[in-house]
Amino acid sequence: MSRAELHDRLSYALAYVRGRTDAPPRAGVVLGSGLGGFAARLGGAVALPYDQIPEFPVSRVAGHAGRLVLGDLPGADGPVTVAVLQGRVHGYEGWSALDVAFGVRVLCLLGARVVVVTNAAGAVNPELAPGDLVRISDHLNLSGHNPLTGANDERLGPRFPDLSNAYDPALGARLEATAARLGVPLRRGVYACMAGPSYETPAEIRMLRGMGADLVGMSTVPEVIAARHMGVPVVGVSLVTNPAAGLGTAPLSHEEVAAVAAREGERLGALLAAFLGELRI
Ligand code: 6GU
Repeated sequence: MSRAELHDRLSYALAYVRGRTDAPPRAGVVLGSGLGGFAARLGGAVALPYDQIPEFPVSRVAGHAGRLVLGDLPGADGPVTVAVLQGRVHGYEGWSALDVAFGVRVLCLLGARVVVVTNAAGAVNPELAPGDLVRISDHLNLSGHNPLTGANDERLGPRFPDLSNAYDPALGARLEATAARLGVPLRRGVYACMAGPSYETPAEIRMLRGMGADLVGMSTVPEVIAARHMGVPVVGVSLVTNPAAGLGTAPLSHEEVAAVAAREGERLGALLAAFLGELRI
């Protein structure tokens, strides 16, 4: 697909969303596996199922509801409008990286001034344990794909975007300050994005550790690249659901990942709500 077609597709999606709600979001949030409960925090919410938004890719994985939810969080200076992607699509479903990033581009075009990405991740760093919240400080794109492949549309962003600060250091520091204020422990780590859908072998996890990864998953990186392409700052948080292969004893399963995320996700939701309520950008 050409980039001109992408711009048209985004325009159709945007027109539909704007026709349903005129509140411009201050922030965009992408909720990972089992973390969809955060959307229930939004007041006055308008929920738009992905399959009703023109051109929007639809997820098929259990635990990914698939709705764009716009609503308000209570904020220090009044309500903060937030646009949430409740469920995402993945490359392993067969979607191109361009399509995987489509939803985040819609959030950016709606006016989000920051994008918060979340995911359920495996721990590559043996010091991380299930339930830990980890601010993503940087990533390794080992998926083999990039949402910017193909002709570049200069209306969306530059041909060669800089990723030196893919995860905004100043906003990350503010997230850490909010976590400290709430008494929520928040670690820091590098996220490695793999293609999936099989989990890694123990040898691959040793390789990732040697490359500097702390976390491993199958998402997030395409969305981050697209948001940075559009000049929007990003904050990332992983919820550790399991030790990666070779570091734990139990076999890995998606059911376990989703169950741990659903059980532990409340703290992440509280952290994000407080962080976004204090945002002054
Ligand atoms: Cl161990 N690997 C990958 N690729 N994704 C995960 C995971 C592991 N644990 C949760 N998500």
